[in-house]
Amino acid sequence: MILLDGKVASAAVKETIKKETAVLLETNKRAPHLVAILVGNNGASETYVASKVKNCEEVGFKSTLVRFDYFIDEKILLENIIELNNDSSVDGILVQLPLPKHISEAKVIQTIAPTKDVDGFHPINAGKLVQGLPSFIPATPYGIMLMFEHYNLQTKGKHAVVIGRSNIVGRPMSILLSSNLPFGNCTVTICNSHTSNLKEICLQGDIIVAALGKPGFVKAEMVKDGAVIIDVGITRVADETAKKGFRIKGDVSFDEVSTKASAITPVPGGVGLMTIAGLLKNTLQAYKNSNQ
Ligand code: GUN
Repeated sequence: MILLDGKVASAAVKETIKKETAVLLETNKRAPHLVAILVGNNGASETYVASKVKNCEEVGFKSTLVRFDYFIDEKILLENIIELNNDSSVDGILVQLPLPKHISEAKVIQTIAPTKDVDGFHPINAGKLVQGLPSFIPATPYGIMLMFEHYNLQTKGKHAVVIGRSNIVGRPMSILLSSNLPFGNCTVTICNSHTSNLKEICLQGDIIVAALGKPGFVKAEMVKDGAVIIDVGITRVADETAKKGFRIKGDVSFDEVSTKASAITPVPGGVGLMTIAGLLKNTLQAYKNSNQ
């Protein structure tokens, strides 16, 4: 069984980005610049955004964290995004989700300039992805593709089962795996909470991507021998013995599923780190697109 180690794979991607960034700085160019917007102070979002900012610094990017109060007016948030769209010193803009209920996520996403949409959530980028055109790929599915590439896991002709159809992970993941790409060319089944025979479908999967947000949902009895298991879950579950009072749990019951899998991502230390690698790659690409 191969442990698909996000620390190792993301470090390799980050090293390449760091070298490219160093060359830019040596030739007196400015560093790529990511602006992350955080509304309110959701604990998990705080952690993710802090990690994104820290990783930017590690590879030599500039990063700015813009914070807004939970009760910020939607109109003011949109105006701030437009200002960043027009700021030529900013390459990438991301608004951490989820947003407070009084703010429309769709409006926010559609206000970000597609050329700076390093999350790849804008319908223009989502549409380009569907048609196989160059676009920003949402960071988590992108990171998973980078994981396949790092470990040279062959996907051609395989049956991939994606559990979850979110715009952030499941749906773009299904498109990438079915695309005519070096780590695509799968036959893909995309499942949702209404899928009736989920266990039977999962048992047919050579690759399973679990992105439904239910801790420990995928059990050994749902997995065929030798399957590749990608666990996207990152749910906080209460644990009095942990320093912070919680533990991060994936969507896969790791201990039992790892006895059947040929390769599996751990949680933490798997897909989460690859998401950051995908975001950094998109930010560098946004920079290159605007500085050609
Ligand atoms: N919330 C959960 N995942 C993501 C992500 O990839 N990007 C943003 N902006 N918010 C998220």
